[in-house]
Order: sequence, then structure tokens, then C-alpha cells
Amino acid sequence: MRIILVGFGVVGQSFLNLLKLRHDELASTYGIRPRILAIVDKGGAAINERGLDMEKILEVKKETGTVSKVLDKGFPGLSAKEVIEKTEAEIVIEVTPTDIVSGEPGLTHIETSIKSGKNVITTNKGPLALALPALMDLADYNGVYLRFSGTVGGGIPILDLGRKCLIGDRIISIRGILNGTTNYILTEMSEKNIDFNEALRRAQELGYAEKDPSLDIDGFDTACKLVIMANWIMGKKVTLKDVKINGIRHVTLKELINADKNGKTIKLIGSINKGLEVKPTEISKRDVLCVHGTLNAVTFTSEFVGEETIMGRGAGGMETASAVLRDLIDIKTNLSAKF
Ligand SMILES: NC(=O)c1ccc[n+]([C@@H]2O[C@H](COP(=O)([O-])OP(=O)(O)OC[C@H]3O[C@@H](n4cnc5c(N)ncnc54)[C@H](OP(=O)(O)O)[C@@H]3O)[C@@H](O)[C@H]2O)c1
Repeated sequence: MRIILVGFGVVGQSFLNLLKLRHDELASTYGIRPRILAIVDKGGAAINERGLDMEKILEVKKETGTVSKVLDKGFPGLSAKEVIEKTEAEIVIEVTPTDIVSGEPGLTHIETSIKSGKNVITTNKGPLALALPALMDLADYNGVYLRFSGTVGGGIPILDLGRKCLIGDRIISIRGILNGTTNYILTEMSEKNIDFNEALRRAQELGYAEKDPSLDIDGFDTACKLVIMANWIMGKKVTLKDVKINGIRHVTLKELINADKNGKTIKLIGSINKGLEVKPTEISKRDVLCVHGTLNAVTFTSEFVGEETIMGRGAGGMETASAVLRDLIDIKTNLSAKF
């Protein structure tokens, strides 16, 4: 499998480390011998059609900040779009930062890959939240696979559980805690009796919240994940504009204390029922969804099985890289079945 890796930050580098760890097992169990032909970051690209030396490239990135400084194989200033168009490969792994306004640069990378006949794996929610129905159609039209397990729940196989494991049933609704940052903030507020600003400050100190935390705390990250689940699991053709969004910025300590008196707490719940909605919601402390800290949890309600809940750590480099690898194995299995 010839791979182009676009984005070489936390997830991209974790993916390379994971490949190194699981190299032998991938070959013996799945017949996959991944070859990383190109890696692109903001500084440019490193390309070797016979496969890049993974150890070397990680070292160069650490020392110089860009893969394009690798000796003989480095191309400073070369864009991901050019690399995708000019390099023959089976898979493009797109792991650049999420932008929910323009979807860029991920949207261009994904479209270019699909149009040039390459399968795509991404963990980037932005392009999917804005254009998933169109991207799925484009992939179908071009006869390639588009996979994005890591966009919802990091390494937790939420999308796979909903789409594959419950295939004999019909999912009627989904609700869940899909954002670790907001769950951490609400947990801190209620357990430590502190207000929203103090809890946000602690989350930022610990690296759980960004300097500009609005994507998380204003509910957009959860909304993106709802869009992805609604399309992939329930076949709804929706985008971000179809979601009613309310974040946790205005949740007060007083509201949490009042909820606590009734055996309840407040969580940022994303739900897909008749519509898609994100809002701070009072839930019983005995509700199976009532997970704490940075954990995520999702409950599927299906026609025959009833309620099933999956929970776990919803982010992290290696966790998310494991979702990318899961998608890689899935694509390889599908391709093998075709030929
Ligand atoms: N980290 C997690 O736990 C996690 C979990 C689930 C989903 N995600 C999603 O996965 C994606 C990657 O996350 P991350 O944590 O790895 O982000 P990150 O550490 O910020 O890495 C982003 C990478 O993209 C590169 N990049 C930015 N613009 C580019 C461009 N125009 N062309 C080529 N490369 C470009 C950056 O280059 P430089 O290195 O030169 O800056 C960097 O290597 C994001 O969309 C994120 O939302 C992350």
C-alpha cells in the first residue's frame, strides 16, 4: 500500500510510530505492507517513491520542524495538492487542522485525492461537517473509499459500532457526550465548585482546551461529530447548517449545584432524533451517559436491541492513529474483496 501522509503533527507522527510498532503483524495478519511515499507539512514535502525512512523522517521533523529538510528527498514549499496530483499512491491520509468555516486546507486535499483516484482516510472534521454528502457522492463516483473513523471519538469505534455492528437493526436515535474538553470543564465545575472561567483556565493549563476554545465550548466540535454520525450511520444527508447548536459558555455553577440537589448534573449532549441538536442538558447521575473528565460516551437506540452505550477516551495521538490504522485495514479488506 503506497501512502501519502498530509499533515505531520500529533496524529500524523503517532500514525508513523504505530506503523513501526505493528509492522510485522500488519504483514502477517492482513497482508499489508505500508510504504509511506510522501509526507507533507506546512514547510513542504518529503518524497521517496521507494518509501521514506520512517525513523529518519521523525528525527528530521523533531530537529528542524519540517519534513522538507530531509536530505535528498526534501522539497521545501511543495504543496500537498501538488504532491497528491503528481504522486502515484493508493491512499492519502489527511490529518491537517480542522477549519469549520472553509473546510480548508483539508477539503482541497480530500477532493484532489478522490478526483485523482486515491482512497482517503481523514481525521479532519471540518471538510466532512461542511460537505460530507457531496464528498461521499464524489468518492462513489470515482470508485474510491473515503473513511474517517478518527473524527468521532478518537480511537473509540463509535462509527463502526453504529454502521457495521448494528447492521441488522435500525438505529432510531443517537445521543452522546462527544467532546472531552467540555466534559472536563463541566466535571471540574461540579466536583470542585468552581465557575466556568476557572474550569476553562485549568483545562487550558492541562492542554485539554485550545487557546481559542470556541470550537469546543460553543458546541461546534460536537455538532461536527453529529453531522458525521447522521450521514454515515443513519443515511441522513445533513451538514453543519442543519444542527441547532448551544455550547456551555453560559452554564453557571448555581445551575450545577441545583441539578446536584436532585441527583442530576449538566452535560453537553449531542443528539440525533428528528433533528440534530447540541445543548447543555440535565441528566441523572445514574444515566449510563454520565461519564466524567475527558471521557466520551454515546448511546445508540435501535428498534430491536434497544439502548447500547459505548464509552472511552475520545482523543489523543495514538488513540486517533489507531482509528486511522483501522480504516487502512478496512480499505485493504475492501480492495482485496474487489479483485
Ligand atoms: N489530536 C487528537 O487527539 C485528535 C483527535 C481526533 C481528531 N483530530 C483531528 O485530526 C487532525 C490532526 O490533528 P493533530 O492533533 O495532529 O493536529 P496538529 O498537531 O496541529 O498537526 C497538523 C499538521 O498539519 C500540517 N498542516 C497544516 N496546514 C497544512 C497544509 N496546508 N498542508 C500540509 N500540511 C499542513 C501541520 O504542519 P506543521 O507541522 O508544519 O505545522 C501539522 O503537521 C485535526 O483535524 C484534528 O481536529 C485530532
